[in-house]
Amino acid sequence: MPGVMTMMAVAPSPCLSVKPARLCSISSKELLVKKRSSSSAHLLRRSWAARAAATAATATATDPYVEQQMMQRLAEDGWVDEHILPLLTPVEEAWQPADLLPSFASSADEQRSQVAELQARAAGVPDDLLVCLVGNTVTEESLPTYMCMANRVAGGSDDTGRDGHGWARWLRGWTAEENRHGDLLNRYLYLSGRVDMAAVERTVHHLLRAGMRAIPRPTSAYHSLIYGAFQERATFVSHARTAGAAARHGDACLAKICGVIAADERRHEAAYTRASARAFEEDPDGMVRALAAVMRAKVTMPGELMADGRDGRLFDHFSAVAQRSGVYTAADYADMVEHFVRRWKVAELGAGLSSEGRRAQDFVCGLPRKIRRMEELAHDRAAKMEAQSVNFSWVFDRPVRTQ
Ligand SMILES: [Fe+2]
Ligand SMILES: [Fe+2]
Repeated sequence: MPGVMTMMAVAPSPCLSVKPARLCSISSKELLVKKRSSSSAHLLRRSWAARAAATAATATATDPYVEQQMMQRLAEDGWVDEHILPLLTPVEEAWQPADLLPSFASSADEQRSQVAELQARAAGVPDDLLVCLVGNTVTEESLPTYMCMANRVAGGSDDTGRDGHGWARWLRGWTAEENRHGDLLNRYLYLSGRVDMAAVERTVHHLLRAGMRAIPRPTSAYHSLIYGAFQERATFVSHARTAGAAARHGDACLAKICGVIAADERRHEAAYTRASARAFEEDPDGMVRALAAVMRAKVTMPGELMADGRDGRLFDHFSAVAQRSGVYTAADYADMVEHFVRRWKVAELGAGLSSEGRRAQDFVCGLPRKIRRMEELAHDRAAKMEAQSVNFSWVFDRPVRTQ
């Protein structure tokens, strides 16, 4: 599932208007005041987001028992075995991180030569792309959080750790595939010599301890399937764009690495999209309300709580670099909402919808237009702003353009 910053805020973050030059000349007293007000604003924003999510969940609540029954039925009647499990790659056919990195089965000279080649290619990767890559890596490395999250879904959980039903086998298989993503990216970054690995590792440690804010109702199958489809698609886009950019900058090794990860995310997206489509067939009213609830809660990001112990707005800054470099943008989010509305035929849901379901349908179908409009306004505002940079601990405190 997750891998990336995915659906970032459309509006530019207020803190981006602070220039590094001003930060350098600021007094320690001023800095303390700024830090306090910034963290208060952050807390306020978070408590607002939590309230909005709770309101959205209550307003469009679906029946947990119905959701649980559907999940159990899909596993018991073999639907998961037939339509979801084939989307996992058999272990014998799957790539492993060692296949894409210098081989230590070769002679010492050959090992040194392979590492030197990797580093020579990585030398051409610009800092903004490195920041995107580190942000994606950190998010992939928080896989334990996501597995815990996925295992809370009523009717789809692996209660014993060795359950035989289809959803449990999918969850373990999906985790095994995802586990390679963080491993591969982490090893590439380490061997490249381009990033401060201690800062990267600290960020992973912080994020694992912080956890993640989930969908409005974490035990809801409907919310989880929808969230999974969005996250996997966003992750695919981000890794695929990073692959393209790496190739343009002459790093064929990184391009291959991001390319194979993107291909995995594509299969995972297909699984959650297919399962959501099936849930739409079973319970269109419940699913359209769940979709609206997830969208209204703004789809909180798996890596949203990342921290390096220094930059209080690390995720916002990472998102701004991804937006500016085109690795993942607000326009991608609008495209994604449009894609799923079309794929799940949301606009065509008809007579069986409740009044709440119809309201949810109207909201979701009108959402891409609203997001695009907000994105245009943000773009116009950004065009009028001066260039801004932020120093990232991940790249040894070098400044990277956020605006
Ligand atoms: Fe994935
Ligand atoms: Fe992944």
